[in-house]
Amino acid sequence: MNIEDENLQCALHAVIVPFPLQSHVNALMNLAQLLAMRGFFITFVNTEWIHKRIVGDSARKANSLISLLFRGDRDHRGGRIRFLSIADGLPPDHCSASNLGDSFIALQKLSPALEHLLRSRSGNDEQYPFPAITCIVTDCVMSCTEQVATNMKVPRVIFWPLCAASSIAQCYATFLISHGHIPVTISEANNPEKLITCLPGNIPPLRPSDLNSLYRAQDPSDVLFNAILYESQKQSKGDYVLVNTFEELEGRDAVTALSLNGCPALAIGPLFLPNFLQGRDSTTSLWEEDESCQTWLDMQQPASVIYVSFGSLAVKSQEQLEQLALGLEGTGQPFLWVLRSDVAEGKPAVLPEGFEERTKERALLVRWAPQLKVLSHTSVGLFLTHSGWNSTMESMSLGVPILGFPYSGDQFLNCRFAKDVWEIGLDFEGVDVDDQKVVPKEEVEDTVKRMMRSSEGKQLRENALKLKECATRAVLPGGSSFLNLNTFVEDMARKVA
Ligand code: UDX
Repeated sequence: MNIEDENLQCALHAVIVPFPLQSHVNALMNLAQLLAMRGFFITFVNTEWIHKRIVGDSARKANSLISLLFRGDRDHRGGRIRFLSIADGLPPDHCSASNLGDSFIALQKLSPALEHLLRSRSGNDEQYPFPAITCIVTDCVMSCTEQVATNMKVPRVIFWPLCAASSIAQCYATFLISHGHIPVTISEANNPEKLITCLPGNIPPLRPSDLNSLYRAQDPSDVLFNAILYESQKQSKGDYVLVNTFEELEGRDAVTALSLNGCPALAIGPLFLPNFLQGRDSTTSLWEEDESCQTWLDMQQPASVIYVSFGSLAVKSQEQLEQLALGLEGTGQPFLWVLRSDVAEGKPAVLPEGFEERTKERALLVRWAPQLKVLSHTSVGLFLTHSGWNSTMESMSLGVPILGFPYSGDQFLNCRFAKDVWEIGLDFEGVDVDDQKVVPKEEVEDTVKRMMRSSEGKQLRENALKLKECATRAVLPGGSSFLNLNTFVEDMARKVA
């Protein structure tokens, strides 16, 4: 046996399997980098649709990922990342974000293909050999990994890309059904008196409207409702649990509650932050980032810009987008608005007549932004967001207060916690998934002004800056998330020793 073979025998190798959505891929790519820094070999398995967008034909993407791989080789103790892909059986132009139901069903059937892929790409067929698999780190909604981990006799590490409170509500879905909290009816959702206090983990009492909006389905055969319930039954069957949150934000008990069978459960977030602080580009954007944001932001006054983005999936009605545009115009503040080409319920937004001309001196409209660079820019004073978990954590970790405008899933809980629990933001009145309320331009304008110009807004900003400090401490050497990630690495190392 030569030295390289011997080294490989005691090397760590994590297979990482994200759900094919921007936020999930981003969070797990950050984890991949942090593990590679700690000496892990990483096999990152995307569906073909995602794989093509991040390492596929685009020279720009390929270059940025290749430099990522080289950095991994040069700077870190042997860690290496490789990207593999798996066909999900859906049409090549299929976008998971707009077809969640189809995606869930297709992904739930992937066990044989994933196992075949991993077995056929193990061993010495590589230019650089990879060691035996130490563990499979699976997105919490990729149940297809369960059978693969069992057959390959490796630990299954369940990764939660949501906040701990949302994750608990999802993990305990069957329990919530037995207590009559799911499905959530419209009248219950809007009844602030009906609190859910039976969940473990010392999490704040939840309102029915905080539960994942997929639990609103009244039709027992609803595809997404059933898919998410199926996933929640599989989430209890893990050997290790990792959560993209930090103990100072949600408490250790909330994270521990995600271990239903007594396995270790650790908070290791915000995962983007250590990479970001050390200037490592972990970008796995599925859309091309508009780099003009940076120079435009450089020209604005400190803390003056409203950054508006609804993540990769959320849409608004055409009427709502018009009111939003007029509301932003009315604030008199500069704004940077990400208008994805499908943001108007699948179509490009049509903005009010004359709007672009009237606001051209103080507005920048882009299709996709380098969000971390934007949120960390000193000109940004407020984030008007759909309250996806990544966006929420990125905003709080970079000290930017949040104006939440949720659309679906866990976004309602993130938005309410940002306002009521962490006190770093506000929201609009009465926005609910079952209620087609259009937030009028006056409310947009007033709420933004409240946040940018009042003493209340100043306090929210101070609170956000305090959370930024906590998040930073958590991920730096000696911090809670830093130490937890080391504990995970040590536990995995014991398995190959
Ligand atoms: C989805 C769900 O919508 C969300 O509720 C859940 O918490 C996670 O999965 P997504 O819509 O993608 O998430 O939103 P979010 O979690 O906020 O993640 C979006 C990611 O895209 C962030 O990491 C953000 O930095 C990035 N982004 C977004 C950009 O890089 N540029 C943009 O213009 C917008």
